[in-house]
Formats: sequence, structure tokens, C-alpha cells
Amino acid sequence: MTKQEIILANQQYLFPCVFHFFKEPLVVSHAKDQFVWDADGNQYLDFFGGIVTISVGHCNETVNRKVIEQMGKLQHVSTVLANEPQAALAKRVAGLTPGGQLTKSFFTNSGTEANETAILAARCYTGAHEVVALRHSYHGRSALAMAASGQGTWRLGGAPPSGFVHALNAYCYRCPLGLTYPSCNVRCARDMEEMVRTSTSGRLAAFIAEPIQGVGGFITPPKEYFEIVTGIVKKFGGLFISDEVQTGWGRTGGKWFGIEHYGVTPDILTSAKGLGNGTPVGLTVARPEVADSLTGATISTFGGNPVTATAAKAVIDFIDDHKLMINSAETGAHLRAHLEELKAKFPLIGDVRGMGLMQAIELVEDRDSKAPAPQATAALMEAARENRLLIGKGGTYGNVIRITPPLNISKSDVDEFALRLAASLERVSQARLTGAAV
Ligand SMILES: Cc1ncc(COP(=O)(O)O)c(C=O)c1O
Repeated sequence: MTKQEIILANQQYLFPCVFHFFKEPLVVSHAKDQFVWDADGNQYLDFFGGIVTISVGHCNETVNRKVIEQMGKLQHVSTVLANEPQAALAKRVAGLTPGGQLTKSFFTNSGTEANETAILAARCYTGAHEVVALRHSYHGRSALAMAASGQGTWRLGGAPPSGFVHALNAYCYRCPLGLTYPSCNVRCARDMEEMVRTSTSGRLAAFIAEPIQGVGGFITPPKEYFEIVTGIVKKFGGLFISDEVQTGWGRTGGKWFGIEHYGVTPDILTSAKGLGNGTPVGLTVARPEVADSLTGATISTFGGNPVTATAAKAVIDFIDDHKLMINSAETGAHLRAHLEELKAKFPLIGDVRGMGLMQAIELVEDRDSKAPAPQATAALMEAARENRLLIGKGGTYGNVIRITPPLNISKSDVDEFALRLAASLERVSQARLTGAAV
């Protein structure tokens, strides 16, 4: 198909909710490591990785070799027959979870399903129904996951199912209480107690949260936040589900999981995206007694599929063998330093935040009002595309640039990224000064 035929077929044969980032859709032809090529042969430096999913580089040879081998051996049996790749992956995961305490896994195909399973397990274990989530969160696209999500934009189809309430998150740049950290004494976290007492029956099944809110724009809570909120949730009987769909597998630097930076051990952890490096895999891993409460008939036809399980284990092994958690911390610090320099130069950048190789800049009309700048953000995406750089967009107000290169990126790639981002910021800033449309 030609590029034009692909775009037309998209419009004609796909649901219109399959939206694209750019004014003119970017048609991708192929990819390798940190690079993506479009249908016209242009090469892009990919610092978004298909929405925080390419953890070890596009078409990683080590991972793909194992996947291809497995495809020639056993492709599918479903969960009603045992197979080695699923067992081996579950064993590997059990050895890596926070505190070594989450040892039983259930595999599915996506982050959405992973969270569905986690909430189901929490409800079975506690016998309670109500779930607390956070404002600005994103947990997936099923009816239940949309209800769990704390952003109106991502809740299609009318009234969501009952049973979810949304607590204050620690969005320090836009503190919901108008306070400043640390003199605030993390009041947003302490508000959880009153929220539970006033907005629920006081019998909780779970509290679900992302250690760093991904789609919400990489909102990164202060170090005390999770200990305080999970302590309160526990008093009301709720389990803690750490949604690590974006933050898992070394993304935040130095640790396997984002929640480990906060000194809190979840009861259930969910993951997807970077675990498969592009193959569809969802993981729910829980404390054994929690997992054991989910008995009876439930099935995931493709969950723990031999091919995707092989891919996931190969990805984990690759991250481990190449010490990518350390690279994420070190190269992430290098990336962060570049972003802070850009902030000093461009007033458009109001905030820089994140951990490891999960970094964001929030764009504002001006630093006093902090008014979100979604148009400038869209313009920056277009300018970056022209500079052959792929970055992501997010945030409840559509004004956050998300930066998540593969974990095996080098410092010189980051330097190149910074040059291209600076050129793109320059262009958007100049256009704003001259009043040209952005
Ligand atoms: C934190 C988080 N949880 C869950 C999901 C849903 O994952 P999926 O799109 O694989 O269903 C996402 C997707 O962006 C996510 O970022």
C-alpha cells in the first residue's frame, strides 16, 4: 500500500477514535533500536517508544531470536494446558517483585486486563467492593478501568460503573490544596482519611495508583506520599495495587519497580507495555494469599501465551544482563540535566519532573499564571517531528511532553535528543513571540 492508501484505509475502515498525534498522520514503515523510519524513508530518533513500551529497543535481536525460536516450537495452548514459557516467566517475576513478597502471577494481554484482574482479586480477597483511585490517573480502556481512571477525557460512553472514588493526588506543580512542598506536610496524602470516611462506606477493597502517573503527565509524588496514603487505606481494609504499566522494569532508574522508590510494598502489582517490548502481555502479580482468593472459573485465552511469555522473560533477562536499571538512572540523570538547562532557557517550560528515563516537561503560557499551553504543546510535537524526533504528549490539560526512550539508550543519543528538542522549542517560542499561529 502507498502512504496515501494507508491513510485513506485508516479513515475508511478504522473507528475514528483511533486518533493520531499529528495533523498529518505519521505512517511508520519500520524500526530498529532507537530509530523509526516513515514511509518516505525519513529516520526519527524515537524518545517515546510506542507509548512507553519499547523498553529494550525496537526489534531487539536477542528478544526476537528467542521469540522466533518459540514460534517454531509452540505458539498457543491457552491456559487450560501447562507450558514451560509461562511457568518460567512466572518464576522469574516472583524473584523480582518488591520485597520478594508477590509470588503468584496471572497473565493477560494488556494493562487494562491486568488492572481488571487486580481489582477482581482485591474484591475476592477483602469481600469489599469500593476502590479508591487518584485524580489524574489512567488505568485502561475497559468500562471498569475507565471508571478507575481519574481523567474525564478518557471516560467514554457515559456514566461509569459505581464503586470508585478519586482521592487527591500529589500534583505538586499544581497543588490541589494550593500549598507548597515540603511545608505542606503532604496534606494531600493525609486528606485520604477524610475522603474515605466521607465518600465511601469505610470498607475498601483496594487503592490503585501509579507510582508516577503516566498518561496524567508523569506527575511524581514526593517521597512520603505512598507511605501515608497506603497506611490510611490499610486501616480501612483496602489492599494496595501498584499500577506499574509504565513505571515497571527499570524505567524509573535503579529499581525494578517505581513503587520501590517509596519504600512501600504493594499487595498486588500490575504491568504490561515495556514488559513485552511490543508483544501484548499483561501481568497481575500478588501476595500468594491474595492470589489464592481468586478461585473459580476465569480464563484468558491468550494469557501466558508461550510466545508472549517467551518475549517477556527475554526482555527481563536483557534488562538484567545489560544492567539497564543502572543505565536508566545514569542516562536518566543526564537527560534530566539537559531538560533543566532547557527550562532555564525557555519560559514555555513551567516544570520538569520524573525519574530515570521517564521524564516530562510541562508547558505553560507563563510561569506566573501557570496557565496550561496545549496549543504550544501540539506545535512542539509538530516541530519535533520536523526535526526528526518522536516524543509523547499527555497530561489532563494536554500540555505535557513525555520522554521515554528505550532503557538501552546512550548519553550521546540523549545529547542528540536535546539538540533536536532545543531547536523545536526555539521554533515554537519564536512563533509565539512573532504572533505566528502555533
Ligand atoms: C498506567 C497505565 N495503566 C494501564 C494502562 C492500560 O494499558 P493497555 O493500553 O495495555 O490496556 C495504561 C496505558 O497507557 C497505563 O499507562
